[in-house]
Amino acid sequence: MYNIEKLKNDLKTTLSEYRYNHCLMVADEAKKLAINYGLDSEKAYVAGLVHDIAKEYSDEENLKWIQKYNLPKELLAEHLKPVIHADIGAVVVKELYNFDDEICNSIKYHSIGNYPMTLFEKIIFVADKIADNNPTDESLIELQKLAYIDLDATLLKCIEYTKEYLEQRGATLEPITQKLLDSLK
Ligand SMILES: [Fe+2]
Ligand SMILES: [Fe+2]
Repeated sequence: MYNIEKLKNDLKTTLSEYRYNHCLMVADEAKKLAINYGLDSEKAYVAGLVHDIAKEYSDEENLKWIQKYNLPKELLAEHLKPVIHADIGAVVVKELYNFDDEICNSIKYHSIGNYPMTLFEKIIFVADKIADNNPTDESLIELQKLAYIDLDATLLKCIEYTKEYLEQRGATLEPITQKLLDSLK
């Protein structure tokens, strides 16, 4: 149903080696999580594979997609730089591969989340945060185990880490992420 070899080739030619390898790890993790939680594992693999398709776009490329799809101009704000690729990635995979809403939305929400979130969206979000073939960090190893036991608890921990990280840099969570966090507590 999905041409995974073509997807891999497309990503390999557009992403850095680091980012491509990250995508492969996220795809594997998403597939395993989908099996664990009874969802379509091939679909989760595909969403994981392409989730960062727009991560390395230039400002010009971002602007092009924003204009083409009438996305909010606010996405170009400086503080959204790390997350704009999620919104753009969602429209890119729609145009390039005509993926359905389940995949497109999981890409759209993989970075700052959403409230509420579907199980599929949570899987892609969590897979992105925990995928690592050689984890050395104790808390990451714990999260990788927890994800297969309690996905919401893992999601909560991932967001708490992000909040801590942002606060150390004088920043805060996006309002929707804070809302998601509050709902998980
Ligand atoms: Fe991302
Ligand atoms: Fe990612």
